[in-house]
Formats: sequence, structure tokens, C-alpha cells
Amino acid sequence: MITQESLFDPAPEEAAQPNSPLEGLGELCRITVECRKCRLAQTRKNVVFGEGNPQAGLFVIGEAPGADEDAQGRPFVGRSGQLLDKILLAIGFERQDVYIGNIIKCRPPENRNPLADEIDCCKPWLMQQLGIIKPKVLLLLGKVAANTILENTQSMGLMRGRIIKWKGFDCVVTYHPAALLRNPNWKRLCWEDVQMLRAHYDKVCPNG
Ligand code: URA
Repeated sequence: MITQESLFDPAPEEAAQPNSPLEGLGELCRITVECRKCRLAQTRKNVVFGEGNPQAGLFVIGEAPGADEDAQGRPFVGRSGQLLDKILLAIGFERQDVYIGNIIKCRPPENRNPLADEIDCCKPWLMQQLGIIKPKVLLLLGKVAANTILENTQSMGLMRGRIIKWKGFDCVVTYHPAALLRNPNWKRLCWEDVQMLRAHYDKVCPNG
């Protein structure tokens, strides 16, 4: 049973354990969509909870919903999402094979970066999702997602191109699709990162 109390800043491994990941995510979603912990509740159209395979070996984490995501209540459905779908397909993943979410679940006005207190309010929901789904590999899209999860302030150059261990998860950091749309020169580096991710995934999730 997931309660408000069990949601208080849990580590992924301490998350309340539901009967099944599907059930746990459903229960968590019902609580999350009512969240009014920060100012973004006043301007959002929809809480973007996240979606995908409840037992995914790979969890893809972006920054925050944009206008399209806010309107539809689904992650990565705009231009960045179309590019993300292509990137995933290029390494043999359909969108429904993986789980896709964001650091924060409500759209910041004018697509500004999430503020520290908004991240602090929202991160426990994501930690719960990680604790329920128990993915082996995290793909962290962009510096905000990577710095937030890895709790550092490192540059993209330092974080990308390697597997980073964090709380039992194997993390791969790469450029955010929105950054790739602005600067296509980074696509080659992203390609290297996701190839590395696929090779590692095949080792740690040999059954797909
Ligand atoms: N950018 C993100 O970081 N997340 C989304 O869901 C959409 C765009």
C-alpha cells in the first residue's frame, strides 16, 4: 500500500512494495496527479506521470514536460519526443519496451529550467517509480536530469561516454533531444552513448 507518508523522500530501494509493478504504478499515479506541493500545480494543465513498461530494464529520464506533454499528459510527445523515439529505435527499443519519465512532472512556465525547490518537491515521485519498476539501466537525458539524479554539478563532457553507478542503477548520460535539435553536431556523440548503453543493457538484461 502506497501512502503519502511512505512517499516522504524515499530511497528507491526503500519504496513501498506493491503486489505488482503495474498495480504500484497505478496507485502512485492516482496520488501523484493530485499533487499540489509546488507552484507548478497552479499553471499545469496535466501532471505528466510517465509511461511505458512497468517492468522495463531501461528507464529514460528527461527534464520536464513541455507544452505538448502538458496538453496531453504524456512524456516526450512533441518534437523532442519524436527524436527520442528515433534514438530508441536505432538501438532496437520500441517506446513501449522502456519506461519514460521526467525529473519533474509539471510544466515550468515558458519552458524555463525547473527550480531547485520544484525538483525537491517532485523527486520523491520519481524515486518511488524507480523503486517499483526496478530498472537496471537509466538513460539520463541532458545536464539537468543527470546533475539531479547523480547529485553533482559536472559538465555533460565529464558525465557522458561511460557507465556511472548510482544506488544500484547503471546510468548512461547523453544529450537531451532538444539540445540535439539545436545542435545536430552532438548527434554523433549521442549515437556513441546509446550504442554503449545497448551493449551494456544486453549484458545486464540478457533476457531483453
Ligand atoms: N523534454 C523533456 O525533458 N521531457 C519531456 O517530456 C518533453 C520534452
